Amino acid sequence: MTIMYRTVSDHQLTATQHHAIRALLDEAFADEFSDEDNDHAAGGVRVIASDGDQIVGHAALVARTITIADTPYTVAYVEGVAVWPAYQGQGIGAQIMRQITDMAQRDFEIAMLSTGEIDFYAKFGWQRFVGQSFVDNHGTIIRTADEDEGLMVYTTRTQLNQPGVAWVCDWRTGDVW
Ligand SMILES: CC(C)(COP(=O)(O)OP(=O)(O)OC[C@H]1O[C@@H](n2cnc3c(N)ncnc32)[C@H](O)[C@@H]1OP(=O)(O)O)[C@@H](O)C(=O)NCCC(=O)NCCS
Repeated sequence: MTIMYRTVSDHQLTATQHHAIRALLDEAFADEFSDEDNDHAAGGVRVIASDGDQIVGHAALVARTITIADTPYTVAYVEGVAVWPAYQGQGIGAQIMRQITDMAQRDFEIAMLSTGEIDFYAKFGWQRFVGQSFVDNHGTIIRTADEDEGLMVYTTRTQLNQPGVAWVCDWRTGDVW
């Protein structure tokens, strides 16, 4: 089995490939991957792992504005990290995350993601978020304390990921973080 990895922009994918990615995400997340989650993964670049014609692994990197300590940053936000169940445990997720993390590090000062699988991302140098998260809901800043423990950060600007520092994301439908 030879797994091929490539980086693509959304517009380079056919409708069939978009459907195949959605099927992979539905399968890997046991049908808990919502339409909003799917929208959140769109519009940036994706790392795709393929076995022949079959897409077996995926992660997306999209740009979001996050205001940190009152300064807006364009942050690389990682979405939709998944490997087809039959292909898990063979290093595919690791290869995808190494590529996504390299891209984020090269093109952005700060990268973020939200997950229930902290230990997986920690393997690739991601750190737990220790600041305080908020969402800007059309001008009203709302604390999102429940999100804090699932957030992770990859940045050389470690002074930003400190207790008490406010990180404010823009509102979006579905999970705001
Ligand atoms: C999480 C996921 C992407 C990992 O992909 P994978 O191809 O199975 O991972 P790999 O085989 O590359 O594993 C790389 C390393 O991470 C570890 N790992 C894998 N899944 C892990 C998890 N959920 N938690 C902690 N460590 C994990 C592996 O043991 C391995 O460790 P090692 O290098 O010390 O041997 C995959 O299991 C998946 O799609 N899960 C369902 C969707 C999901 O949970 N996505 C991520 C959370 S948002």
